[in-house]
Amino acid sequence: MDAEFWLSRWREGQLGWHLPATNPHLLRHWATVAPDSTRSVLVPLCGRSLDLAWLAGRGHPVRGVELSPIAARDFFALAGLSAEVTHRGAYDVYAGQGIEILQGDFMNLQAADCPGLGAWYDRGALVALPPELRGRYVDTLARVLPAGARGLLVATEYQAGEMQAPPFPLDAAIVRDTLQGHFRLELLERVDALADNPRFLERGLKAYHESCWLLERR
Ligand SMILES: C[S@@+](CC[C@H](N)C(=O)[O-])C[C@H]1O[C@@H](n2cnc3c(N)ncnc32)[C@H](O)[C@@H]1O
Repeated sequence: MDAEFWLSRWREGQLGWHLPATNPHLLRHWATVAPDSTRSVLVPLCGRSLDLAWLAGRGHPVRGVELSPIAARDFFALAGLSAEVTHRGAYDVYAGQGIEILQGDFMNLQAADCPGLGAWYDRGALVALPPELRGRYVDTLARVLPAGARGLLVATEYQAGEMQAPPFPLDAAIVRDTLQGHFRLELLERVDALADNPRFLERGLKAYHESCWLLERR
């Protein structure tokens, strides 16, 4: 699952993960995770998620990071916003209405690329990465987030092998193993989400859960 895998998904418009509304887990849990809306929120592997606009609407400065320039352009165009494009570090930065999308590889992110972060939100990011990239992803988060920064992680859970990843299955043991070196973890909720995801039923899953984790940078 290299960059070309994702770039071709964007070129071909195969965006099965994209939700037409704000993610319900974000709506339910964000006030617990990040009550202070003056803090900047990092959204790794953000796609063109409507969650960016919801977070900005609560007052947060929002910093998404996304490989695909199509995603960055589409986000602003579909929201009816104009974006100014500049360059910072390893990224082209699309910016408008308090939202920046840093277009490039998340694994290159440095603290200077996104100053002032206080929170982060991961839906469709860690679960999109194969196991061998999880360590780099978490090291990158740890490099750019200050101690005390809080985040919401939405993890997908199903029997490994029942469908072709991504998303990859991340049960509680994997989440703890992957993140506990840098983060304190609390499981907020685990819900049966099969009925809400007919595309996974079609791909053969018999059971599918989503877990919401509150994480705090040590
Ligand atoms: C499963 S999608 C989820 C998108 C978004 N979080 C959402 O919920 O709609 C994963 C996204 O990560 C992007 N991506 C994959 N690897 C990346 C990387 N190394 N750096 C930045 N973006 C990446 C892909 O282009 C894709 O848009």
